[in-house]
Amino acid sequence: MGSRMVGRTVIITGGASGIGLGIAKGLAAEGANVVIADLDLKSAETAAEAITKSGGHAIAAHVDVTKRLSVVAGIELAVKTFGKLDCYFNNAGFNKPMKFLDVTEENFNTIMSVNALAVFVGTQEAAKQFIRQGSGGKVVNTASIAGRTGFSSFAPYSASKAAVISMTQATARALAEHKITVNAFSPGVVATPLWTQLDKDLEAIGEGDSGFDSMAGGILVGRAAEPEDIVPTALYLASSDSDYVTGQTMAIDGGMILV
Ligand SMILES: NC(=O)c1ccc[n+]([C@@H]2O[C@H](COP(=O)([O-])OP(=O)(O)OC[C@H]3O[C@@H](n4cnc5c(N)ncnc54)[C@H](O)[C@@H]3O)[C@@H](O)[C@H]2O)c1
Repeated sequence: MGSRMVGRTVIITGGASGIGLGIAKGLAAEGANVVIADLDLKSAETAAEAITKSGGHAIAAHVDVTKRLSVVAGIELAVKTFGKLDCYFNNAGFNKPMKFLDVTEENFNTIMSVNALAVFVGTQEAAKQFIRQGSGGKVVNTASIAGRTGFSSFAPYSASKAAVISMTQATARALAEHKITVNAFSPGVVATPLWTQLDKDLEAIGEGDSGFDSMAGGILVGRAAEPEDIVPTALYLASSDSDYVTGQTMAIDGGMILV
């Protein structure tokens, strides 16, 4: 067990699975008080129990990031349980690929709502809490390589992640006066349940060839990422080590797209 996050309370949206779960475990192992905020309460509870069993501090919170009141309730639960909030990870997200000409308003709006609007709302509500406390704070957003370069069957997803990158810059500017830093990281291809679903969905629209294996093929370090590969950067962005860094989006893609 390390100690870089001792006494710091962190909320991780989408913390019950994949990258968020990796971050929750990694930060708890460094002493953080972790709030696993997820739509899937059962998986969030299982994750929190596992962390507690291994000597960490964690609770589950039933949060739908698309509902402001739910986001606020998650923050209130964190503060009630652990006394304050230090860091907020806007990590929940999903993709539902469609061939570009088939994309519907519903597909576009749903992806934008979870991946982009919820980051906006989560940042506002976390910032309000940080400002009430008067001690600054940190927001960390999960962007994607898809926000740096567009993928044809992921147009709404790519747009949503580009929005995350630009919101990271805008909110860093807006919140600097309150000693709040806002940064993001952009994963490439990470082996998580998101990809299990994505591969099925790509197959269903006749694009099975552009799935996980083909995307992972061109990665310079020679393999796809595991959630654990994201943890050191997440820890850096959540800890005081990154106090002089704000408005940045750090690629964690094994050298996949080089932009
Ligand atoms: N896996 C990758 O290759 C990859 C690459 C780049 C970016 N990302 C991004 O990383 C983040 C995490 O992805 P993952 O691969 O770990 O996915 P995942 O599907 O394993 O986990 C996502 C979690 O988010 C939760 N969630 C979904 N909608 C929610 C909502 N409205 N409110 C609260 N929780 C909600 C789900 O219940 C799930 O637990 C996403 O933002 C994703 O876009 C993933």
